This record gives sequence, structure tokens and C-alpha cells, in this order.
Amino acid sequence: MAALNSRTLGRFGPAVSEIGLGCLGMSDFYGPADTAESIATIHAALDAGLTLLDSGDYYGMGRNELLLRDALYGRRRDQALVSIKFGALRDPAGAWLGFDARPAAVKNFLAHSLRRLGVSYIDIYRPGRLDPSVPIEETVGAIGEMVNAGYVRYIGLSEVGAATLRRAHATHPISDLQIEYSLISRGVEREILPAARELGVGITAYGVLSRGLLSGHWSDTRELAPNDIRRGMPRFQQGNVDRNLAMVETLRAIAESKGATVAQAAIAWVHSRGDDIVPLVGARTRARLAEALGALDITLTAEDLAEIERAIPPDGASGTRYDERQMRMLDSER
Ligand SMILES: NC(=O)c1ccc[n+]([C@@H]2O[C@H](COP(=O)([O-])OP(=O)(O)OC[C@H]3O[C@@H](n4cnc5c(N)ncnc54)[C@H](OP(=O)(O)O)[C@@H]3O)[C@@H](O)[C@H]2O)c1
Repeated sequence: MAALNSRTLGRFGPAVSEIGLGCLGMSDFYGPADTAESIATIHAALDAGLTLLDSGDYYGMGRNELLLRDALYGRRRDQALVSIKFGALRDPAGAWLGFDARPAAVKNFLAHSLRRLGVSYIDIYRPGRLDPSVPIEETVGAIGEMVNAGYVRYIGLSEVGAATLRRAHATHPISDLQIEYSLISRGVEREILPAARELGVGITAYGVLSRGLLSGHWSDTRELAPNDIRRGMPRFQQGNVDRNLAMVETLRAIAESKGATVAQAAIAWVHSRGDDIVPLVGARTRARLAEALGALDITLTAEDLAEIERAIPPDGASGTRYDERQMRMLDSER
């Protein structure tokens, strides 16, 4: 595999590797994960030159940050850029209670994250969702104070729409917007991506494999753990999942003709959308990571892209990307 190139997150953000590692599935949401293998995967990523690690304080309610602390122990602090989301409120059983991005909450969440991570600053700090009861200027203003105090380097956002992005960016430069973007989640292309480009805000794209559905490794007979969030996700429901997997098979034929796997073609497609876009992959094992990094060796020609578009049309997915309740919470879907 060739060395990883870097991409700069917008006009105001840091240079990061052209692909990032999302650590969510190592502690939550996608069924059991192996801690030792998760740490080995983070080490393999860093050793391959991947520098962007994404997490959230509510992933495993602090466990994901503790995992990162262990994985980064003994490494140079500047070898990894740590991106942390905050704000989601959960009860002891993990149920969602709402969102809090008031200025005092921002500082409180940050203090806890710094302690858990065992670091003196977080590279990119972002609210995981827009708090509908707090003007974005107040949330971003509070993170800006933490930038000035040296606890945060850059401010990011997650799943906000173009209008919120503009307001936030007018308050403090935003490095990147984290948002779902994949062959079957292309809503961002309508208004949000053009606005981000106009403002000089980078995109960190998540769900590039649609949580495994677009990976080529999914099957409709897969047993899901009781707390696996995909149980409630429309695209994984019976009926929808069959239609979605039928599309994946057309992608498989194209990928194989290029000597690639389905996951590699799906990641390469997002990666090909522009130098201002950094795909985050949710690999939890070294094998999945190696496959994901292999995507960077693939060049998709204009012909390949057209063929992929025919196989998977922009609105081709069956089912929305989140359930109804969560779709209503997404500022990016308004
Ligand atoms: N801002 C937000 O609202 C938000 C929301 C969700 C995620 N994120 C961030 O984005 C990151 C990535 O998102 P995601 O985990 O939903 O996305 P994903 O990369 O679309 O899906 C990850 C799943 O795909 C499966 N997979 C199969 N082959 C793979 C391969 N070669 N490489 C990687 N995964 C493969 C993995 O399952 P197996 O391990 O079972 O194979 C994994 O659980 C998260 O870790 C998180 O940091 C942000």
C-alpha cells in the first residue's frame, strides 16, 4: 500500500490523513467488539500514517475515550488528531435523553473528556447534534473560549444544515462538518456541500459504508446483538435490506472488474468527491482496516464513476438513513 496523503480540513482546519478512523463501533452500537483488537487496529492505523481518530464522549458513555487513551499511551501527542463529539445525554442503561450544548455544558463535557483522554487539549471538538434550544452562536462561542484557553485546537460541527453552518462559521472559523455521505446518502450534495465549499469548511464523511450495509460483507441473515442500533435503522429492515443488498451486488460486479472489493469501491467513491472531503471508516479490526486503506490504491475513472452512478442512483436507497425520531432531530435534514 502506498503512503497516505494528507488533506486539509477546509481553509481553517488542520492537515489530516486522507482517510480517518471512526472509533464508535469499538465501544458501542454495532454489537460486541474486542478491546485488544480495537487497540491493535488503532495502532495499525497510526503506523500506516492515518492521523485522524474520531470519537464521542457518549460512545460507550466515556468508554470509547478511555479506549483511545489506552491506544495512544506512549505515543507522541501530535501523532494523532483526536476529534471528539459531545452533547448527547444518556441514562445508565444507554437510552437517549436529549442533547445539551449550553455554554456551561460545553465546558463541563470538555473537562471530563480531557481527563478521560489524559490529554491537555483536544484537536477538534464538536457538538454531535444541534441543540435546538441553544443558539449555535452560544455553543460555538463557548468552544471558541476553550480554543483561546488552549484546551481545543479546532471547532467542528456535526449534522447541521447550511444555515446553521453559516451562523456558526460567522462566530468562529469551523474546520469541518461531520456528516453522513455515501453512495446511498447523498442529501449533503444539495445545499450543505456547496455551502461548506463556499465558506471553506472541510467535510469529514461518516457512514461511507452505510454502517456495513455497503461493505459487501453484509447479509440479511446476519444476527444482530440486542443493542445493535442497526436493528432500528430503516435501511436494515426487512424488505428494504433486500433491495439495498441487490444494489450492492451491482456494485460488487463493478468493484471486481477493478480488482477491488465492494467496501473499497464505496470508500474510493466518497474519497473521489473532492480534496476537501475526508472519509471516516468504522473499521474495528486490522483486517477491515487493511481493506479500507486498500481503497486509496484505487483510481475511479470518469467511466467507472458513471457506471457506479447507474448501479446506485443518488436516490436509490430503500429507507431513510435514520429512523423517524432521529431524522426529526437532524438540522441537516430540515
Ligand atoms: N457525526 C455523527 O453523527 C456520526 C454518526 C455515526 C458515525 N460517526 C463517526 O463515523 C465513524 C464511521 O461511521 P460508521 O462506523 O457508521 O461507518 P461505516 O464505516 O459506514 O460502517 C462501519 C461498519 O462497517 C463494517 N465494515 C465492513 N467492512 C469494513 C471495512 N473494510 N472497513 C470498515 N468497516 C467495515 C464494520 O462492521 P464489522 O466490524 O462488523 O465488519 C463497521 O461496523 C464512526 O466510527 C464515528 O466516529 C459520526
